[in-house]
Amino acid sequence: MADDIATMLPLAEPDAEATARRTQSHYGLRRRTLERMRSKTTDMDVAPMRIDPRLYTDPVYFERERKTLFRETPILAALSMDIPEPGNMMVFDALGPSILITRDKEGKVNAFLNMCMHRAAKLVTECSKRTRMTCRFHAWTYDLQGKLIGLPGKEGFEGIDKANLGLIPIPVAEWKGMIFVRGTPNGAPIDVADHLGDFGDELAALELHKARPMAASRLECEANWKYAYDTYGESYHFASLHPTTIGALAFSNIMVYDKFDNGHCRLGFPREEFMDYADQNEAEWPHTDYGGLYMLFPNVSINVNSMKGGGQFYGISRVFPGETVDRSFSLLNTYQPAHTSRADEGERWKEIHDFIEHVVSTEDYSVSADGQANLNWAPDGFCTTLWRNEIALQHFHRRLAGLMEHNW
Ligand code: FES
Ligand SMILES: [Fe+2]
Repeated sequence: MADDIATMLPLAEPDAEATARRTQSHYGLRRRTLERMRSKTTDMDVAPMRIDPRLYTDPVYFERERKTLFRETPILAALSMDIPEPGNMMVFDALGPSILITRDKEGKVNAFLNMCMHRAAKLVTECSKRTRMTCRFHAWTYDLQGKLIGLPGKEGFEGIDKANLGLIPIPVAEWKGMIFVRGTPNGAPIDVADHLGDFGDELAALELHKARPMAASRLECEANWKYAYDTYGESYHFASLHPTTIGALAFSNIMVYDKFDNGHCRLGFPREEFMDYADQNEAEWPHTDYGGLYMLFPNVSINVNSMKGGGQFYGISRVFPGETVDRSFSLLNTYQPAHTSRADEGERWKEIHDFIEHVVSTEDYSVSADGQANLNWAPDGFCTTLWRNEIALQHFHRRLAGLMEHNW
């Protein structure tokens, strides 16, 4: 779908107020990053934190996480521009149940179990734009709001109450360009403002509702979802694990950290080019497209970053539990923000997408798989350690522990 939309949709105009808010926020991040670069220091936590390997290996704990974090917590399913127009729909099955998300005639987003109410066939298997969905098994037909509007045959259907045979709703909420679902059929509504807390203002300034989808892919990882997700939240490994890729673009072990409510945070990593004007007054700094890494609890990172040759991209990675405790997969999506280059340069966003996918799969997820295998053989009492410089990971694991209430 991304290809079609990228060529189909014009870029929207950025909003002046959001632009001002975003610029101010990103200048602040760069100011603090440069201070850290000059002093060769990093934001740190107060003490190291020990991590029990069972968090990554225990199947019982894993099932509890799948329920508490991936079926009860609001999860980012898409950006608005992934289904921009009435009749657009998508299937989101990363949480386990196949979830059908539609945009109805009024422009409102709906979500349902992707399950026909007759005999539970998968209702939508291909996401073309349409005004109704017809089950391929016996052709029961539903509108975009999930209402049963037609079924073939009269005989044998005496007394059928179509009003009670609508698709089963999944809680969904669209907020400033983000579509959240809660993977529980008939579950409680989602309060996005409550979930985001003070992180909401920062995310709103990104104008995600205008971001155009440019590329999407799925990556498998032979490691627990947290082992994979943990690789996003620190820069300590840049020089050693990514010497010719990320490590050539950003400094290792220097990081700026902003803590927000409910386990969300934002990180600033020093880009090499910041050094070119490290000694200049702020008024003389050139424009940068770098805006940091926005980490949305429990499983999302949004990389607001610059591309070679100029222009900005939003690189969204979402990490999900796989079939077993030691497997995960990630959905990688690259978007073009409304406020970046106007030219028809779709290839450049695809290039950066491929670059990130390559680095993540061959470097980050390769080391994750090795580490995961080792954890299975770790002796009783062994713990990994997050040191003081791994402050964002400590923040994540503290929030996780608070929600999961395990007592190891
Ligand atoms: S299962 Fe869908 S119409 Fe029969
Ligand atoms: Fe990495």
